[in-house]
Amino acid sequence: MYIIGLEGTAHTLGIGILDEKGTVLANLMKTYRPKEGIHPREAANHHAKEFLPSLEEAFSTAGIDRDDIGLVAFSQGPGLGPCLRTVATGARALSLSLKVPLIGVNHCIAHIEIGRLTTDCDDPVLLYASGGNTQVIAFTRGRYRVFGETLDIGIGNMLDKFGRVHNIPFPGGPVIEKRAMKSDELIDLPYSVKGMDVSFSGILTAASNSKAPLNDLCFSLQETTFAMLTEVTERALAHTGKDEVLLGGGVVRNDRLREMVEIMAEERGAKAYAPPGPLCVDNGAMIGWTGYVMHEAGLKTPIAKSGVMQNFRTDEVDITWRR
Ligand code: ATP
Ligand code: FE2
Repeated sequence: MYIIGLEGTAHTLGIGILDEKGTVLANLMKTYRPKEGIHPREAANHHAKEFLPSLEEAFSTAGIDRDDIGLVAFSQGPGLGPCLRTVATGARALSLSLKVPLIGVNHCIAHIEIGRLTTDCDDPVLLYASGGNTQVIAFTRGRYRVFGETLDIGIGNMLDKFGRVHNIPFPGGPVIEKRAMKSDELIDLPYSVKGMDVSFSGILTAASNSKAPLNDLCFSLQETTFAMLTEVTERALAHTGKDEVLLGGGVVRNDRLREMVEIMAEERGAKAYAPPGPLCVDNGAMIGWTGYVMHEAGLKTPIAKSGVMQNFRTDEVDITWRR
């Protein structure tokens, strides 16, 4: 049996095809790249337009026939309503036409499960840092629980917004990383950790309004916000007594963030892990794999319960497959 995973929480339409061992046969990502911030409706239109050609492309890359598919998994939330609904509609149609079960997957949990599949970690604290999401998640008492999170915007959105103010094209993260490498001048920016949570809007305002040289701002923005993330991750490790950190989300492609987390882990006798780049960002393979794990635990999503959940919480899901 093969599994198809459909991702559509935000600006990436992802289609992944895997076998039951978790071998990824295709993992297509079609990303809507707006000149300015993301417009949910336009992103959804992009996914609708790309859906059928991408499906064909995924089957041909995987070298399988659509009748070989035994399970359709889709991202049920959290995310942007129009994007979620578009891809969920495609998933329902595929499940009905192929006469195979449908399974709705929590996107954040998929970032953990793909890390458990593709790295040597088993029971990690996940630092999930992407455009829309910034959370520290770990498994305790039958659930993946959120130990800390952003109180306002996701770190990637913050980087992209800062980029827009300084004429850096979307996505801003990779350009900010390159510029940061050219500086070691730390400008004072508001470091904002509240208990286990972080917030980025104050630092965004300060960095956007500053007249300091751009490379110094990029450097300082990274040093300050990555230190915040590393601090709350360390606290979650201490609190849960776990000794593995898993990185997930587009922002963890940043080498400096990885380095800071690795140093922190090493100092506490823990280990840091990250899936290969394409599996760190939003992708269909992680949705497919998580759907498969859930399906093996006897779960499925009837059409009547397949409505999307924009605010689908990580800790709403009963993790029966890990008992
Ligand atoms: P989600 O729906 O989970 O919030 P997303 O739609 O933001 O995810 P991702 O691909 O996980 O998609 O992450 C994209 C974000 O990652 C963008 O904000 C981008 O600026 C950021 N990013 C990508 N590469 C880097 C990098 N090298 N350094 C910092 N940030 C990066
Ligand atoms: Fe994501």
